Amino acid sequence: MRSTEQVRLLKILMDHLDKGTNVDAGGIRRNPTEVYTCPELASREWETFFKGYPQVIGMSADLPVPGSFLTVSDFGIPVLAVRDDEGTFRAFLNVCRHRGTVVETEPRGERRKFSCPFHAWTYSNRGELVAVPKEDHFGKIDRSCHGLVPLPAEERYGFLWVHPDPDGAIDPDALLGGLAPEFETWNWGRLTYSGGDQYDMRLNWKLAMDTFGETYHFPVLHRNTLANFFYGNVQCYDIFGRNHRMILCLRDIDLLRNRPESEWHITAGSFPVYYLFPNIQVNVGESGVTLVRAYPAPGDPGRSISEISFYFDPDILAGSPQRAAERFQQFGNIIRDEDYAVAASAQRGAESGLLKYATFGRNEPALHHYHNTYRAALGMEPLPLIDT
Ligand code: FES
Ligand SMILES: [Fe+2]
Repeated sequence: MRSTEQVRLLKILMDHLDKGTNVDAGGIRRNPTEVYTCPELASREWETFFKGYPQVIGMSADLPVPGSFLTVSDFGIPVLAVRDDEGTFRAFLNVCRHRGTVVETEPRGERRKFSCPFHAWTYSNRGELVAVPKEDHFGKIDRSCHGLVPLPAEERYGFLWVHPDPDGAIDPDALLGGLAPEFETWNWGRLTYSGGDQYDMRLNWKLAMDTFGETYHFPVLHRNTLANFFYGNVQCYDIFGRNHRMILCLRDIDLLRNRPESEWHITAGSFPVYYLFPNIQVNVGESGVTLVRAYPAPGDPGRSISEISFYFDPDILAGSPQRAAERFQQFGNIIRDEDYAVAASAQRGAESGLLKYATFGRNEPALHHYHNTYRAALGMEPLPLIDT
């Protein structure tokens, strides 16, 4: 983030603190609770946002060296992602061309050849079929037509995108909706992967996203945790196409007031959270990034799986390696045990069928934008702004 933008945002937060104000969406919106429970809507979301849309599968650090691989299967198809010998990010359908068995079953590691566990047809990390055992017995196979099915793959600004449709297209700059120049300045390609977690919860995937949509709840739900470090109900908010950026307010912002603006760094006084449509939250701290990818459980609007990945600035991690375990623990204690716990409770409320709508406040603009964005993508009427 450019230093002028960092100072601008930190000044907005200080101004809110001084005046006792917050960002203002200009009104409230009412969100029908059936969007969290409706099987028909869940099915359209699955087809449109997950099977038919470019997916962020991780960050560059998930494939740290030539020969690295990563497998994911969160959006309906098994994917094998690799960094080939030239360092190029590639992705394939992780399915053997012989009889369709999943080829690579490990979640991540280093391997230059991938051998199917069924009959050992073997593929290079460029997807070529390089070995067919007993080919004289099996019959002649045109290897050039039986490589792993390639999927569109793009690596940009430290993120890895894969399109689940082999004929799909990925345009990272268009997907980022104007965030690209800012993402470039973060230099996230330098980060190190330090572990992951999975929260499989009884809540709709949009409730998982809603968790990251406001800080109104910090002084209440997080009174013993995040509220020790953050001022709640104070934030900056900006829209970038289908995406948005929230700047959460750290209590340490007070330490910047007596320092020259040239020394202000955004992560010293605040905590940026970027939302990337449809299901990604990029949490940015001074030690690195925590990436959240939320996925619906197919066929069950009341369940979702959040994949959490922790990435660190390698210098910070080298200086204090225990920070990885601390962040891992802290994120679970707060996001899973506090935020997702109340979101699962809200899921039960929605499933009662007796609460027709939830209300998004003037101080929760991210919720307004997120819900109207996915509604527009599905051809649904926007939630109207109600002036109050
Ligand atoms: S199914 Fe993969 S080698 Fe037979
Ligand atoms: Fe929270």
